[in-house]
Amino acid sequence: MTRVITFGTFDVFHVGHVNILERARSYGEYLIVGVSSDELNYSKKNRYPIYNEEDRMKIISSLKFVSEVFIEESLELKLEYIKKYNADVLIMGDDWLGRFDWVKPACEVVYLPRTPSISTSEIIEVVRKL
Ligand code: CTP
Repeated sequence: MTRVITFGTFDVFHVGHVNILERARSYGEYLIVGVSSDELNYSKKNRYPIYNEEDRMKIISSLKFVSEVFIEESLELKLEYIKKYNADVLIMGDDWLGRFDWVKPACEVVYLPRTPSISTSEIIEVVRKL
């Protein structure tokens, strides 16, 4: 059984998130998703996500193509998570192209094209202007 892992914030859940998770799952039979913690987001973007980590985990774990969900506490722990969850393939959106090639001895790395014209930041901007 091929085990696939991917990571993301998945705040203000949208179709680009569905697309990448659905495609990630097609690389194997078991999909593990690391949902980045509220604190990790704060340290990266200087703001907390709209939905807290508990709600974001609940949304992701309710998807039929997701097998297991955990909180990603640090970006630097990718390799530890890959080993802990015994992942064979790491899937990332191509906004991260090349950035995780360093885990390659431990698992295959695949970058998938993003869904065009949609992102959480853009949705927040649009709503803000209403
Ligand atoms: N993703 C995608 N297509 C999009 C938006 C996101 O494939 N249009 C993917 C990202 O490449 C990533 C995962 O979804 O692998 C989670 O991305 P995340 O950063 O949580 O979503 P974004 O909408 O990109 O959020 P933001 O605008 O805050 O960066």
